[in-house]
Formats: sequence, C-alpha cells, structure tokens
Amino acid sequence: MCGIVAYIGNQEAYPIILKGLQRLEYRGYDSAGVALLDQKLTIYKKKGKVAELEGSLIGKNLHAKSGIGHTRWATHGEPSDRNAHPHRSPSGKLAMVHNGIIENFAPIKKELQNKGYVFQSDTDTEVLLYFIEDIYHNDATSLEEAVRIALKRIIGAYVIILLDEAHPDTLIAARKGSPLVIGIGKNEHFLASDASPIIEYTKEVVYINDYEMAIVKPDELILKNPGNERITPFITKLDMELAAIEKGGYEHFMLKEIFEQPTAVFDCLRGRLDAKAGTIRMGGIDKHLELLKEAKRIILVGCGTSWHAGLLAEYVFEELCRVPVEVEYASEFRYRNPVINPGDVIIAISQSGETADTLVALENAKNQGAFIFGVVNVVGSSIARLSQAGAYTHAGPEIGVASTKAFTAQITVLYLIAIKLGYAKGCLSRDRYLHLIGELALVPDKISEVLKSAPAVAALAEKYKDARDFLFLGRGYNFPIALEGALKLKEISYIHAEGYPAAEMKHGPIALVEDSLPVVFVATKDSYHDKLISNAQEIKARKGSVIAVISENDTVFQDIADETIAVPAADEILAPLLSVVPLQLLAYYTGLAKGLDVDKPRNLAKSVTVE
Ligand code: M6R
Repeated sequence: MCGIVAYIGNQEAYPIILKGLQRLEYRGYDSAGVALLDQKLTIYKKKGKVAELEGSLIGKNLHAKSGIGHTRWATHGEPSDRNAHPHRSPSGKLAMVHNGIIENFAPIKKELQNKGYVFQSDTDTEVLLYFIEDIYHNDATSLEEAVRIALKRIIGAYVIILLDEAHPDTLIAARKGSPLVIGIGKNEHFLASDASPIIEYTKEVVYINDYEMAIVKPDELILKNPGNERITPFITKLDMELAAIEKGGYEHFMLKEIFEQPTAVFDCLRGRLDAKAGTIRMGGIDKHLELLKEAKRIILVGCGTSWHAGLLAEYVFEELCRVPVEVEYASEFRYRNPVINPGDVIIAISQSGETADTLVALENAKNQGAFIFGVVNVVGSSIARLSQAGAYTHAGPEIGVASTKAFTAQITVLYLIAIKLGYAKGCLSRDRYLHLIGELALVPDKISEVLKSAPAVAALAEKYKDARDFLFLGRGYNFPIALEGALKLKEISYIHAEGYPAAEMKHGPIALVEDSLPVVFVATKDSYHDKLISNAQEIKARKGSVIAVISENDTVFQDIADETIAVPAADEILAPLLSVVPLQLLAYYTGLAKGLDVDKPRNLAKSVTVE
C-alpha cells in the first residue's frame, strides 16, 4: 500500500519518478506527490490519481537530478492535497515519503506539540519526519544518525526515503515491514516499492531487508544494519521484461491478466509437470519430501483471494493426501494464540509476498517452530524470503488490483504439491496419479476455450449490471470458487455479493431471494451435481434468476437456468481452474458496464502492506 519511488543520478529525476509512480499506482491512488531537489527543495502534491498530479505540473520547470515521489493509499487522514506525500519538515529543508503505519505516532505527536511544533497534515508520516528533524537539530551529528535514533522509538511498519536540501547528493532510506528495492545504474540509483519502476533502466537490484538503512549517492550505495555497521549489498538480477508490466493492447490490466491465464498456468507447470514421463518435479518439495510426508497437519494461511486458494487446497489436500488441514485468515491467525505443534507445516499463500498480516502471521508461527512453505508470486518478496522452502507461482507481474491469474497459478501450484505428496504418501493409486497429471497438463488449452465465452459474459454483465445484490453458490471444490466470484464482483463493480455453500441457503440466506435476484451457481459436473440441481430449483421456485457456470453439454442445468456459461469437462478436483474464469470475466465486464475504473477500484490497493 502506497507506492514510493526515488531517483538520484545524472538524468532528470521528474520523468523517471512520474513514470515510476504510474507503474506503482496499483498500490494506492488517493493522492500523489513529488519532491525535487535542485539547490532548493520543491514539493508538488495533489489529491487524486497520478494523472492529476501530472496535469497540474505541465509547464513547470521541474529540473532536478534527485527526487522522491509517492502515490498514497490513505491511512491517517482523508485523501487531500495536504495529507499527500512528500511531507516537508518544519525547517523546510527535509522532505520525506513513507509507506506503512507508525503505530505510536500519537504520543510522539503530543511530545512534539508540547515543544511547539504545529502540524500541517493529519498523517503519521509528518510526525515521524518532524521527530527526525527535531533529533537532527538537537541530538545528532548527521541526518543518518537522526534517522537511526528516531527509528529506534518507532513501532509499526515503514519504508521511508528522505531528501535533504543541505545534501543534494544523498538520499536516506530505511525499511521495516514494507518493501524497498534499489536499482543500480551507472552513476545513478533508483529506489522503489517494487521493481516495476526500475526494470526499464537496470536489471541489477538490491532488496533491502528489515531494519537496514541505505545511504544512496549517485555513485555509491552504502547499506548499514541497526548497529551502524556496513553490510555488503547483495545484488540480484531481475528476471522480468518490461512488456510484462505494460497493457500490451488490452484496455485494462485486469482483462490482460484474465487472458494471460493459459500462459500463467502453463508457465507454472513448465519444468515441473511432465505428463508423458508421469513426473512432477518441484525443488522445494523434493528437498523436503520426507518432512512433508510426515506432516501431522497442514495450515494454509493467506488473505482475500489467496485465502480462497487456501480453502480450495484444504479440500484437495484432504482428498489426495489424507492429512488434516486448516485454513486461516492471516489477520486472525496472527492475533490468536494458535497451537502450533512439531510436525505442523504452514503453507503461506500470497501473490505479492508483502501482505502485512500474512507476513507477521508467518513470523509468529516460525518463531513457534513451524516449518514455512511459501506459495508466492513475486520473486524476492518478504514472504518468499521468510519461507524455509517454497514454490513460486510464475504468474508474472499482476498489476490489476483484482487478483486473477495469480489465483489460478496459486491453485495450480497447490494441485501440483497435493498430487505429488498424495502419490508419495501412497494415498493415490498410480492410475489416479497419472490421470490427474494428464488432466492438469490439458488445463491451459481448456482455459483458452473458456476465454472464448468473453463476449457472452459481457452481454450477461450488461443485462445484470443494475442488480443491487448477487449471490454466488457452489459446493465442494466449487464452494471456494463461489466465494472468489463474489469477492471479484464486489471489489470491481461495487455490487453487494455474497458467496455461500449452496446447501446453506435454506439455513438463512434463501430469505434474500426475491424476484430476479441474480444467483450464480458454480455448477460444473461433479459429485454434488444432483444436489446443486435441487438447490437451483429452490431458487427458481422463488423467482430468482439463475446464472450457471456449467460443464459443456449439461442439458439439465441448461433447462433450469436463465443463463448458462459452459466450460470444458474436467476432473472435478481440477474444475475450479476453469469455473473461476467466467466469474472473473463477469466481474470485469460488470465493472466496465458501470463505467468504473476496474484496475483501480475505490478504497483498494494491490499490495496490503498495512494491517
Ligand atoms: O498479495 P496477497 O496475495 O497476499 O494479497 C492478498 C489479498 O489482499 C488479495 O488477494 C486481495 O483479496 C485481492 N485484491 C482480491 O482480488
């Protein structure tokens, strides 16, 4: 949440920072700002999206070789010009951007107010900046030292970057709990919340770790630990192409990412699944196979869509591996006092690898002795680094706020793990094992087939776009998909939507059904199919409109439902990889039909780095 970007070197800083902010805008888009240093420090900030800031700066002289920028997801204080970052210190000489939350900002603010400081914004960031400057003027010999002293007192999460009018050749950055990457160019450095603003200029990056501080000059990167000792920066080569973070002719990232799913699933299987040889090779699993086979319990931890992937994995692991499984919302798990026993394996699921709740839940569990296995998309992210073993999902950068291809890649990895482990444990016959991996190999082509339904789904979206509420129902493996369909629709179209196990309807929610309430059934052919038919009849009897995702040639459901979208036949365990796609399309086209910004839905941000 919040995107930060900074530049120091020989090029003009503003265009680099502006482009960086546009690339990071998925992280928050309530307001944006930039501070540029060319002898004097100038700060420009504006409520709204980065385009508003850009528009307000046309015709200005923005010459500077260093600068910092920010795109905000509001935590403390409403979105407004004055709460936008960068903030300026009381002397006017320092500017700072921040991503994260300073939890103990209130007592520090009080102390500073007692000293006579008057704040210009409602933000926690401004408090930290004033605090740093107060220490800088009274108790420290350098800004670097002032930052170090100040951060010792701070509770919360942060990445901060400071610009000091007195030292135009230096940026100071520090991190705890929020991400920071530094790109190394020729006599220049690029700092950002993720690699997307950097990739265009250099592939050599350093991921900054918690509690590290960076003193960045055009030609030098000094990294220090909290004890003020220098540490050697570990340079990584980015394995990402610029095209992957551009729209490539699509109207929105979300649509591009929905259509990238055949490739995302294929990339996820590539090098791992060999259907002809009948093998699944996964380094992270092979190395720890005995530990995983002996696991007494698997606990899946995630948030939002990643939690839905975990819920589906619960069904799959129980069925294929005969191991007890629990699925936990990271935000609850971290604050409970969970019983973690030797032999428990935690599977962390996260697209970004930076979700604050998931990260802290894992740290807690790791401290209690749990083994952490990460299923993460973003290479080098905090959760990936915290995990003791893992499997990347290889979905490629996901920029639309609504998670789509990351979800299908997550569940693909989880299927691979479950099939491999189930077979290794002797819970799966060779025939069943070979059948499942053969079926998994067919999924990318089958998703391409499903995508052909896009125009039909767009027409459906147009028809139902004015509905006030939607229900999404499924059973078994398709129950998590019903939840995911509801989440997608609400976040993109702002229509109230609920997901339920279909059989739960008569325990309460059926009271909501009235004339033409759209009820989406995720009804691909499986062991629950007959039951689901009865559930759909119950909706029709109460005049609800039934929209059903069905297996091709399912004439029974075609007769009951008002609308159907057919997907190719598949093994019932794997069917969610297909049944979720029309629901993603439904959310996308409904948002579009309502004239909404589907890539940047209101109040949301892609990477939830605050709790
Ligand atoms: O990066 P993560 O997978 O850890 O993110 C978890 C959720 O914030 C995320 O899945 C969210 O629910 C998506 N916006 C849903 O589309």
